[in-house]
Amino acid sequence: MERTLILVKPDAMQRGLAGEIIKRFEQRGLKIIGMKLLQISRELAERHYAVHRERPFFGALVDYITSAPVLAIALEGSDAVSAARMTIGATKPAEAAPGSIRGDYGLEIGRNLVHGSDSGENGEIEVANFFAASELRSGWSRDVDGWVFE
Ligand code: RTP
Ligand code: MG
Repeated sequence: MERTLILVKPDAMQRGLAGEIIKRFEQRGLKIIGMKLLQISRELAERHYAVHRERPFFGALVDYITSAPVLAIALEGSDAVSAARMTIGATKPAEAAPGSIRGDYGLEIGRNLVHGSDSGENGEIEVANFFAASELRSGWSRDVDGWVFE
């Protein structure tokens, strides 16, 4: 089982796409183990995007992700990281496959709708950056009768 952090970014929230985006992860079979609406602080944004600190777009990226409320979603499932990134689509929406979120709703890299963690290790770290353990409900598993929650 893996965890991945999804952020429904300000552009997707402004366009009223949160429900459509949640629907796609749910129908993929990924389980929601945490969800909250928040406005990201500069400190959290700089930690979340720390790997991009030296990139020319870093300032604009932090300005944007902190500009309005986002929906943070913690997902769990087998291969959750790669499954979620396929559902999200390529970073540049103009090159994202039709059928992916970015391929269906996006055009510009600076307004690419959704964040998804890029490795299992980062998924764990990013979920912990956004959620206290007490805010997560992780207990879905499959048995012979189907899904059970323990
Ligand atoms: P994300 O982290 O948001 O899920 O996106 P990603 O893995 O597909 O892309 P990443 O390389 O991690 O870049 C993070 C975000 O930075 C913005 N970006 N802008 N102007 C540019 O050239 C540029 N490159 C990246 C995008 O918003 C991207 O999602
Ligand atoms: Mg990334």
